[in-house]
Amino acid sequence: MFTIRKTLFDQDHTLIVGLFDEDLHHQLIFQSLNKHSSGQVDTYVKEGDISTEYKHVSKYLSSGQLPVKRVYFLGLGKKGQLTRIRLKKAFGKLFKQIQADKIVQLSIALESFRPDNLSNEECAEIISEAMGTATYQLASFKRNQVQTITSIDSLTLISDGDEGILLRSLEKGIAFSKGVNKARHLVHLPANILTSAHMAKYAVDLADEYGFTAEILEKEQMEELGMGALLAVNQGSSEPPKMIVLKYQGLEEWTDVTAFVGKGITYDTGGYSIKSKTGMPGMKGDMGGAAAVLGAMETIGRLKPKQNVLAVIPSTDNMISGSAFKPDDVITSLSGRTIEVLNTDAEGRLALADGMTYAKQLHAVRIINVATLTGGMVTALGSWMTGALTNSEDFFKTVQDSGEKMGEPIWQLPYNEDYQAQVRKSSIADLNNSPTRKAHPIMGGAFVGEFAEDTPWVHLDIAGTSTAEAAHDLGPKGPTGVMSRTLADYILTR
Ligand code: BES
Ligand code: MN
Ligand code: ZN
Repeated sequence: MFTIRKTLFDQDHTLIVGLFDEDLHHQLIFQSLNKHSSGQVDTYVKEGDISTEYKHVSKYLSSGQLPVKRVYFLGLGKKGQLTRIRLKKAFGKLFKQIQADKIVQLSIALESFRPDNLSNEECAEIISEAMGTATYQLASFKRNQVQTITSIDSLTLISDGDEGILLRSLEKGIAFSKGVNKARHLVHLPANILTSAHMAKYAVDLADEYGFTAEILEKEQMEELGMGALLAVNQGSSEPPKMIVLKYQGLEEWTDVTAFVGKGITYDTGGYSIKSKTGMPGMKGDMGGAAAVLGAMETIGRLKPKQNVLAVIPSTDNMISGSAFKPDDVITSLSGRTIEVLNTDAEGRLALADGMTYAKQLHAVRIINVATLTGGMVTALGSWMTGALTNSEDFFKTVQDSGEKMGEPIWQLPYNEDYQAQVRKSSIADLNNSPTRKAHPIMGGAFVGEFAEDTPWVHLDIAGTSTAEAAHDLGPKGPTGVMSRTLADYILTR
């Protein structure tokens, strides 16, 4: 599907050219096109038919003058302002247009897109990631839906660069997009289909595909081990819980292990602290953290870095029945800590508690947990940034850098002994799962932090970022697959 070519023209292809605002006449590819068209391209620019404005797509039909089918110009704006993420979004918009126009063969003049701060390889990676994520369409369960998706079947980069390296960069971008799209797919699936058992099966298949070790703990094993927190959340359900574990070993020894712990609540009714009729729809997405972790594992499986990665996903739905857990219940977590349940809707932190402890038992030396944990985070940061807590500034910084680079920005919230004191406040148990409405996104993270103990830990609350209210340049309305890229990049660059 991917090829690298040195010459500009191919009769059968649509040529894609980037245009920066400044010095149009010094942009080599523009010069060449202008010459071949006897100045016509330049005339179109002067008359405004071709624009250099950021993200503007101009189509140009060469009517036989150029030995290509047609040219799409993509405006890039000011060269100095073109960051990684801005370039990715511009390509996302372009690929959506290309998909709508049913174009299946294209050549991209790589050099015309490259700002001074990015290498050819980085640009290639950005291009294929944008293509994979922007053109992705969510599965449909409509009875008579006809498959209308056209996918690009031949993409050529025009470049003098090293062929092998550029092809590898393209594959890397694809590996990221596959991870993101798998995460989106999982979040999209309704909870009657994506049960904990279904998610476990998905993880086992992923392990088979990429050579991970998979371990699925069943309810009986959880009872033996004492995973009382996850079991409490599952108590009202007719679906058995699963503790899903994947191990990717890229080093000789199982040391220096980074763990990802993802909240895998397949449906959150709130339990007896029941959600409202408007608060409940959408709660099929309460396994967005698990999806991000599985998405990252997909990318890691494809790229095989020399790192050790552990994925831990405590999974169940949060239901109501005669056997469900209740406010006032006191439960015992895997760590031995007892918890007073004040709110059954604060279930994610309970499931995560046992996931965190289990990750430590499996030799994690640093832990990133990802969760759609609190509605308060949606209020605080909206859908634009993921909220974070940490007990290790250095560790946090590296995770935040990956988020920044991959276009998944992260904002840190405060965490100190005052907040810790709130989750430790109980007259009957060691901890309580819902101290107060005040600062509740922090309380949620702080509760999970109790189970990190001294292990360096970053908490990522994606309640606001895991779904998009509208279609955007890099994907459809709905699940975003957020943090899949960040987790994978963190592993690949550390
Ligand atoms: N899954 C929800 C958080 C959530 C809310 C995610 C909206 C996405 C959108 C979580 O389990 C929850 O119910 N949190 C409570 C915590 C409260 C009981 C302390 C919340 O946010 O209200
Ligand atoms: Mn809840
Ligand atoms: Zn929840």
